[in-house]
Amino acid sequence: MDGTEGFKPALGFHVLTPLYDRVVAMTTRERTFKQALLDQAAIEPHQQVLDVGCGTGTLAIGAQQRQSGVRVSALDADPTVLAIAVRKAHRAGADIAFDQGRSSALPYADEQFDRVLSSLFFHHLSWGDKLLTAREIHRVLRPTGELHVADWGRAGGLASRAAFLMVQLLDGFETTSDNVAGMLPVLFGSAGFRQVEETRRISTALGIVSLYRAVKSGAGPGKRSAGGKA
Ligand SMILES: C[S@@+](CC[C@H](N)C(=O)[O-])C[C@H]1O[C@@H](n2cnc3c(N)ncnc32)[C@H](O)[C@@H]1O
Repeated sequence: MDGTEGFKPALGFHVLTPLYDRVVAMTTRERTFKQALLDQAAIEPHQQVLDVGCGTGTLAIGAQQRQSGVRVSALDADPTVLAIAVRKAHRAGADIAFDQGRSSALPYADEQFDRVLSSLFFHHLSWGDKLLTAREIHRVLRPTGELHVADWGRAGGLASRAAFLMVQLLDGFETTSDNVAGMLPVLFGSAGFRQVEETRRISTALGIVSLYRAVKSGAGPGKRSAGGKA
């Protein structure tokens, strides 16, 4: 075992990983939904942020570049995709702590982070791993911490549902079905999050990308309002 077994790589197959950034940029309105997620997260300068399932690091780099003084960690199971992320961060001058690990056993202390971000990630996990991951995220967030997720959301019309079959063929039907059935808010609620909401739905060539927001305890700054629905 080299630690790379048992997870689904960025485009479903290891051989496609070098193409990931180009494919995602062309098919998912990546810039639009990642900027919207960062707007929603409203990260403050002193805060500690974690990007779970960071892939090639685009969101983590965006978070770091938006706010000087913010400390960003980013985790992924795949050393190949992390190598790409490290090179991109270096080129961008972004100081990010990249870690290899599983989202179901995060290598971080309890209550370490103010914000946990995640994009196009939960649909890679079985329901059991989704639940373990959501509980781990809950554990590493401070009491006033917030979770901000962008991922494939509840199906829209027939056309977007049909387009989403392409994602399902690459990433598998089992893990993606929870997303398209609109189960992510249920998942976050089951893991103990409060004020769980789908804040926006963005149409892409491959289906609907939904933005979600949830707070750890429902107390303090977590009560501020997130961006409106699209
Ligand atoms: C579709 S990519 C998303 C990458 C990035 N967040 C983005 O928005 O472009 C999903 C990523 O999840 C990672 N991954 C899959 N299962 C994982 C797990 N159990 N723990 C950590 N990372 C995992 C894959 O290696 C891949 O890089």
